[in-house]
Amino acid sequence: MTDGAPNSYLAATPPMGWNSWNAHSCAVTEGDIRAAADALVETGLRDAGYEYVVVDDCWMADETDDGGRLRADPTDFPDGMAALADYVHDRGLKFGLYSSAGRHTCQGYPASLGRERTHAEQFADWGVDYLKYDNCGDHRGRDAVSRYAAMGDALAAVDRDIVYSICEWGQSAPWTWGRNVGGHCWRVTDDAVAKWQTSPGEFGLGIADILDRVAALDIAAAQAPGGWNDPDMLQVGNGPESGQAQHEPTDIHRPLTHAENRTHFAFWCLLGAPLLVGTDLTDSSRAVLDLLTNEWLLAIDQDPLGLQGTPDRREETHEVWSKRLRDGAAVALWNRGDDPARVRAHVDDTSVPTAGDRYTVLDCWSGERWETRGDLSATVDPRETAVFRVTPQ
Ligand code: GLA
Repeated sequence: MTDGAPNSYLAATPPMGWNSWNAHSCAVTEGDIRAAADALVETGLRDAGYEYVVVDDCWMADETDDGGRLRADPTDFPDGMAALADYVHDRGLKFGLYSSAGRHTCQGYPASLGRERTHAEQFADWGVDYLKYDNCGDHRGRDAVSRYAAMGDALAAVDRDIVYSICEWGQSAPWTWGRNVGGHCWRVTDDAVAKWQTSPGEFGLGIADILDRVAALDIAAAQAPGGWNDPDMLQVGNGPESGQAQHEPTDIHRPLTHAENRTHFAFWCLLGAPLLVGTDLTDSSRAVLDLLTNEWLLAIDQDPLGLQGTPDRREETHEVWSKRLRDGAAVALWNRGDDPARVRAHVDDTSVPTAGDRYTVLDCWSGERWETRGDLSATVDPRETAVFRVTPQ
């Protein structure tokens, strides 16, 4: 282990929690964070495993103090970060903060390049359990590995376990070095936005775009317990729900429908991705809460083998992906088209271990179970994904 190598017992399974960015962006306040912590408890999400409450960009004051230390914004975070961490900890949750491996954050606030030791000590003193470390600001000519290693070393030197979430957007292949600089997860793409797809030149990537990127990157081998490929935080719940929005095939610019939310969440679980909820939980529908707490999908995400799901077959209108699990595999049948479709799959063409000739299938949406000798085909609604947990008998 090099200096800064990860504590592999941290993030032994993909980190789960809530992050302020997708819900509140730069308008976040300490009241929002306290409300999110309370909501995680009240909705049952904490008990389902969502444990980190992470404040993203914009928590800092405009200037550091004379010693280069970060200060909380006196208007939006008047009680300061130690008090906020206490509030979160008192509810049985863990506390996360954000900074950047540059001189400024993406929104122009002071960040940590060149002040890593000082800031890591502050984070530890405040009771921080998770650091999201972004890639914005002046890099002072330094490459990504050296900038991220500097914070990895600083976190390793403090007397507190802090999950290190590398947010480098996949620009310098962080899956090849993230673990060696102490990272527990590393973003593999640009920001996910609450859309199915985005157009070239438009900010961010839609959910279908991210899955296309992940398939093309072919980086499943980089993932194992303690270090996770991160396709970005969840946008589940950040759009019309329960199928209220009738999607138009040509309309790729409106928020996610319920079917798209389900495909989004199912795939993040199949990938074994970090699950950082990004919706306002004080105002979430039952459908969204039920989705985020689906025990069968969460078990796929949190499977102890820690493998990433991979595509078995990709066609224009449908795809089959699977992920080997400790006791079988998860298989996802995704209808990318605009009409209901029969998606055909057989255990032989997936990650299902095929020693026997009988399998139990669990439908992760309905909870129904049945037996098969190998056929896994299903009829799938537009933009929906059938997810089966398949166990050899
Ligand atoms: C970048 C990151 C996002 C978010 C914003 C905050 O875009 O990729 O996840 O943290 O910065 O400004």
